[in-house]
Amino acid sequence: MDHIFQTVSNIGIIPVIAIEDAAKAVPLARALTAGGLPAAEVTFRTAAGEEAIRQIARNCPEVLVGAGTVLNLDQCDRAIAAGAKFIVSPGYNEALVNHCVEKNIPVFPGCVNASDMTRAVNAGLKIVKFFPAEQSGGVAFLKALAPVLPLSFMPTGGVNTKNLMDYLSFDRITACGGTWMVKKDLIEGEKWDEITTICKDAVKTMLGFELRHIGLNCADEENAEKTARAFCALFGLEYRPGNSSIFAGSAVECMKRPFLGEKGHIAIGTNSVDRAIYHLGLQGVEFDESTRKTDGRGRTKAIYLKDSIGGFAIHLAGK
Ligand code: 3PG
Repeated sequence: MDHIFQTVSNIGIIPVIAIEDAAKAVPLARALTAGGLPAAEVTFRTAAGEEAIRQIARNCPEVLVGAGTVLNLDQCDRAIAAGAKFIVSPGYNEALVNHCVEKNIPVFPGCVNASDMTRAVNAGLKIVKFFPAEQSGGVAFLKALAPVLPLSFMPTGGVNTKNLMDYLSFDRITACGGTWMVKKDLIEGEKWDEITTICKDAVKTMLGFELRHIGLNCADEENAEKTARAFCALFGLEYRPGNSSIFAGSAVECMKRPFLGEKGHIAIGTNSVDRAIYHLGLQGVEFDESTRKTDGRGRTKAIYLKDSIGGFAIHLAGK
């Protein structure tokens, strides 16, 4: 079960789908995957939902498919039989939650107040859906409640690329869900490329890659000092000595002895190193585990890619 939660968190954005024609499910799932989002919460809002889950589960094993808008035990059992790997419901239904707990299938019941959330905690859940998120007070509401509840949240409802990071930058948000990349007309019109583009845009926003610093492999400590001071003097940067390197501001890191990379290294910042590892991994990028640095809560702060580019070793760094 934990690996499903971990995958949901790594993917970060879960497309919420209402599909009228199950024959469109597989090309849709492939369009999402091509856009970097191999996940689908297929809702029971339409008659085709159940068959769509079955088609995706059967033909797209790389896609994490779950069932949404599950209102009762019958739908829940049908969803599981069709291949749903997780269950999402709009509200808190005690019988449904207990059923899923017994069946050991991840369930995200919709909760919008402390009472529902407390019931979820007492049912042993770690993550709940927060729906409809924007209309229920948004991330400010969650920030107010989170300190008193040992829960993480999956907000859906009014989330889009514009406000995505308001949610995801709060560390108690496991992932955001939404329909913005899978609007009805896009599915009906089989606009798969457009769906892929919207997904890519969402992933780009979520990861927020940007240059953090360049690392220079200096011959020794003296050379590192000299180099760092030269940058500081020219550009008015702060001289920041550390254990293995000296920073000139945050732009240039002068290594006290030659380190990874023939020419040095480039640090790329991201909103979430763990999500970046997952998403780059989908493109075949490999990482050097021996360089992984984590914080006290097990989240990765930095890690090097296995391969250099243009003579530079590349590491990801949390912003
Ligand atoms: C859901 O079921 O989670 C919502 O329909 C998603 O809301 P949205 O359409 O505002 O993204």
